[in-house]
Amino acid sequence: MTDEQERVQPSGVWATAVGVARVRALESERENALFRDPLAQAFATAGGQGPTSPPLPDEAAHLRRLAVSYSIVIRTKFLDDLLQQACASGVRQVVLLGAGMDSRAFRMDWPEGTRLFEVDTAAPLDFKASVLRQERAVARCERITVAVDLREDWPAALTAAGHDPTVPTVWIAEGLLIYLPEEAVELLLARISAHSAPGSRMGLTLSPRGVIERFRADAAPGSAASMWLSEMPDDPIGWLAGHGWEATSHTLRERAAAYGRPITTPPQHDEQSGGLVSAVRR
Ligand SMILES: C[S@@+](CC[C@H](N)C(=O)[O-])C[C@H]1O[C@@H](n2cnc3c(N)ncnc32)[C@H](O)[C@@H]1O
Repeated sequence: MTDEQERVQPSGVWATAVGVARVRALESERENALFRDPLAQAFATAGGQGPTSPPLPDEAAHLRRLAVSYSIVIRTKFLDDLLQQACASGVRQVVLLGAGMDSRAFRMDWPEGTRLFEVDTAAPLDFKASVLRQERAVARCERITVAVDLREDWPAALTAAGHDPTVPTVWIAEGLLIYLPEEAVELLLARISAHSAPGSRMGLTLSPRGVIERFRADAAPGSAASMWLSEMPDDPIGWLAGHGWEATSHTLRERAAAYGRPITTPPQHDEQSGGLVSAVRR
């Protein structure tokens, strides 16, 4: 059987990773794209997500979908920049938690000696591997996949795969925390912190408070919004400080304007605290 025939089709929470790839594929086609992800289209197509998305019941649902797509584009650029800054500061160890169809190992320039770990469950990593083989994709750094559920003892799996907690790491949790219950988010952060040497960095995307309630209307069974479980804490900077991180946060609106993609709709009440977080371990 060929790779294509054997490929597991997206389901459950990891199907959301294919939806993210579809958004990145569309962005990559823009003349003024904030990033180019040449593999995104292949992931989307392999996962059955064509360029046109299924119709939505009303204008409000359409606007909500647009808002999600927008946030994916802005956060991708934010974290691309954060990773570049981390490399410039000398970090050579990268961990993508809930990596999904993230193709940064293939599309970004990495300094010599960079090791990049992609952590996700086995099904999306297998699907990804089959698409990467089909595309004959070649990683631009040392890429190591770690198949483990982030609610289990993932640090042991990561260390067994070669992660060295005694040297700095840059951690990325992009579009992930919203799919974990609050206790699991807390445990995840404690574990990240315990495996972060001084000088480590972290990029997180946190979901605005109230987003789960607002999107509940669209949350058809199996949709991404139907699987959302947690929102950002009241005081994200204080929360991170409590775990030993010096963090700064940015709103989507502020970053979008900085990237030349200003958001023109009026600010929402939940936009005061920023969901795009960058942190350094002291
Ligand atoms: C919305 S996708 C984001 C993927 C990727 N970070 C990106 O931005 O392209 C969420 C990812 O988190 C992963 N994920 C969610 N819960 C997980 C868990 N308990 N253990 C491991 N991975 C998980 C899913 O499999 C999926 O790939």
